[in-house]
Formats: sequence, structure tokens, C-alpha cells
Amino acid sequence: MSSEATLRERAEARGIEFGAALSAAPLREDSNYWNTARTEFTSVTTSSELKMGPLRPSPKTYDFSDADAIVDFGNEYDMAVRGHTLVWHTQKPDWFQEWDYSGDQVRDFLRDHVRTVAGRYGTRIDAWDVVNEAVHEDGSMRESVWYEGMGPEYVEKAFEWAAEVTDSDLFYNDYDIPTEPEKADAVYDLLADFRDRGVPVDGIGLQLHGIGSQADPADVADTVRRFRDLGLDVHVTELDVAYEVGSVPDDPLAAQAEYYRALVEACVDAGVDSITTWGVNDGNSWVRDFYKAEERFTIDPLLFDRKCDPKPAYHAVKAALFEA
Ligand code: GLA
Repeated sequence: MSSEATLRERAEARGIEFGAALSAAPLREDSNYWNTARTEFTSVTTSSELKMGPLRPSPKTYDFSDADAIVDFGNEYDMAVRGHTLVWHTQKPDWFQEWDYSGDQVRDFLRDHVRTVAGRYGTRIDAWDVVNEAVHEDGSMRESVWYEGMGPEYVEKAFEWAAEVTDSDLFYNDYDIPTEPEKADAVYDLLADFRDRGVPVDGIGLQLHGIGSQADPADVADTVRRFRDLGLDVHVTELDVAYEVGSVPDDPLAAQAEYYRALVEACVDAGVDSITTWGVNDGNSWVRDFYKAEERFTIDPLLFDRKCDPKPAYHAVKAALFEA
């Protein structure tokens, strides 16, 4: 395969999914973004479009139009599609006043949500992040409205409800697992217990937002092997690499490329078969909005720059997939 092959061609030849989280607005409005997503990536994830808040403008209505724009795009161009996310503690609808609900009402509400959304898409979505970020860094369960209403059982219930309505692969997704041992152990115990008891979980998603500091690729590989030994698929679901002002390397683009190369090699070697960057290009990265007020971070986390031109990290990832 020539060095001119796209990332998508390289990834497909290597049998690895290499995807990006997409947003509906630039997909509709920016032809560069649309072309880059279609030609360079093998899979797509919805960024915010399937989160409960954006999806549910009022208690009785769903607005699937933005989510459909991304899912339809992925289906149309033979890409794997990841739905993100059915159950999360934040980005809930403004009208959802948690103190108005009893425990039973929380349960009914969540069951209805999971079944409605996962059931609507069926096999048009290949993998779901069913539950996002249920565990704190110290290994305790996060005190979300779902936890307060249903206790820790809400996590397994979400998987069971999803499995009732879809054959998609069902993932638990979280951040800092390779770098926070107490959190890693707690998530491991949770998912090991699910496997023992037949709760329908197929995999774990490692977010890997490298904003200011990046996980050591060797630690990520150890984490991947540990969870694969449970019989789970391990996907890297939310990868980006940015540096903190004051500790920016001399040649940040080269350092970023080297990190992407080392990480992709380590992950593929450890058995990861799906890697997703959290965005297509730097101009649409969440880091830009999220950290703008603080101006603490460089805002160049992705493989393509603001004009969608490939960066050194893009070539490094292609080389890593070629060699892996
Ligand atoms: C978390 C969530 C994502 C996204 C990112 C960045 O990791 O899982 O949906 O919101 O933060 O904003």
C-alpha cells in the first residue's frame, strides 16, 4: 500500500477501526470536515447528539435529527457507528428536576429512556457507550441522580434494558483508568462481577483525554490486557493530546506525533481493535471551548488542523498502523 493511502485505507488494511467523534453542525455546514470524516476514518461516534439533554427538549419529546445526521452518515459510508451515551450523570435536560422524582420514578424514567433510544437505532448503531463515568477516581460510585434513585444497580440495569432492545455491542466507558489504580480496580471488579453473573457487557471504553498530561502507553497496554483477560473488548473511545501552557514541548507537533504513534502501537499490540479521536480537526475540538476561559492549554489535540490539513500526528498514526 502506498504512503499516499488514507488513514481509513490503512486502518481497514490493518483490520483496525480508527474513528472520530462527529458533531452534526460542521457535518452539515463544512464540506472539508465532511470529506475528511468520510475519507480518513472508518468509524464515527456521536459527540453530544445522543446525550439525554440534547436529545430530549421536553419531557414527552425526543429530537433525533442531529443524532440521525451522524448515524445516517456512518451507515451511508460503511463506517462503524458508536452511540454515546445512554446513561451519564451530566448533560441531562434542564427540565429534568431530579428532586421531583421518587426512586421508582427514576427507574421507570431511565428504563424508558434506554429502551426508547437503543431500540430506535437497533443495528444501525454497532456499539453503545451504555453507561459513562459511573466511578470516581478513588473507586467509589459517583453520586448521580441515577445512583441516588436506584443505588449501584442502575449500572447493570442499564445494560440489561439495552440488551432487551438491541444486539449492538454494549460498553462501559470512563476516563483515567490507566492512571488511577483505585478507579481501575473498582471498574475491574464491577465488570468482572457482571461477567460472572451474566450481565450483558461486551466491552470497556478507555477515554484517554490527554489534556495537559498523557497516560504512559505502557500503562495503557497493561490496562488493555487486564480487561481483555476478562473476555471484554477494549476500545479507545475519546483520544486527544494537548499540552499545558508552560510545559509545551519545544516541538509540540513532533511530540504530539510521537505520542500518538507510541500509543497506537501499544494499544494495537495489546489487542485494541478500535480507536477514536474526540473530534475530526482542531477547529472543532472540545478543548477549544472548554478551556478557552482559562487559556491553560494549547488547542491542537487532533490529527487534522483547523483547515483539516493533516498534521505530523496523522502521518505518525498511519505509520503506526502500517507497522503494527
Ligand atoms: C467526556 C464525555 C464526552 C465529552 C468529553 C469532552 O469524556 O464522555 O462525551 O463530553 O468529556 O467534553
